[in-house]
Amino acid sequence: MEYETQHQIDVMYTEEQINQKICELGEQISRDYAGKSIHLICVLKGGACFMTELAKRITVPVSMDFMCVSSYGSQTKSSGNLIMKKDLDESVEGRDVLVVEDIIDSGRTLSNLLELLKERNAASIRLCTLLNKPERRVVDVEIDYNGFTIPDEFVVGFGLDYDQRYRNLPFIGIVRL
Ligand code: IMP
Ligand code: MG
Repeated sequence: MEYETQHQIDVMYTEEQINQKICELGEQISRDYAGKSIHLICVLKGGACFMTELAKRITVPVSMDFMCVSSYGSQTKSSGNLIMKKDLDESVEGRDVLVVEDIIDSGRTLSNLLELLKERNAASIRLCTLLNKPERRVVDVEIDYNGFTIPDEFVVGFGLDYDQRYRNLPFIGIVRL
């Protein structure tokens, strides 16, 4: 399909490559959680596309909740403040939580978020991210499941935005600003 975009966007991972990776992650997660059920927590908005696709590839019982936090304005650099825009609907107490995120960049958002979830007494907390940008890490974050490790480029698509645009692209691409 031809997508109308205001910027040049160079494909980094095609839809097929992403789907293949999500299948592999789903298999691995299903194996690791055999006999348990998983409470998936989607970090909105970026994690939405990834979580819905990943959930379909997980074969153990799954429940879902959504939260919206961010440390971003409309720029392409993290400010470091966690803003809670929407909290979870359900308690995580005693549940095996898997946080699903689009990308770990500075690590600030997720390290703050994981601290917050720990205080709420989940049985276990793991982190699954579609993309990892380790070159820009400021705060250490332990990633349990990682789709792709990418260089320091600003990417969009598959849930990731530039100024709220391009989340709908089925591929991941570098925005040429
Ligand atoms: P962190 O707190 O710096 O790790 O930022 C994490 C959040 O920044 C992600 O959940 C994304 O929403 C956003 N972000 C970081 N890098 C990119 C990128 O390359 N494209 C789009 N969003 C990004
Ligand atoms: Mg995000």
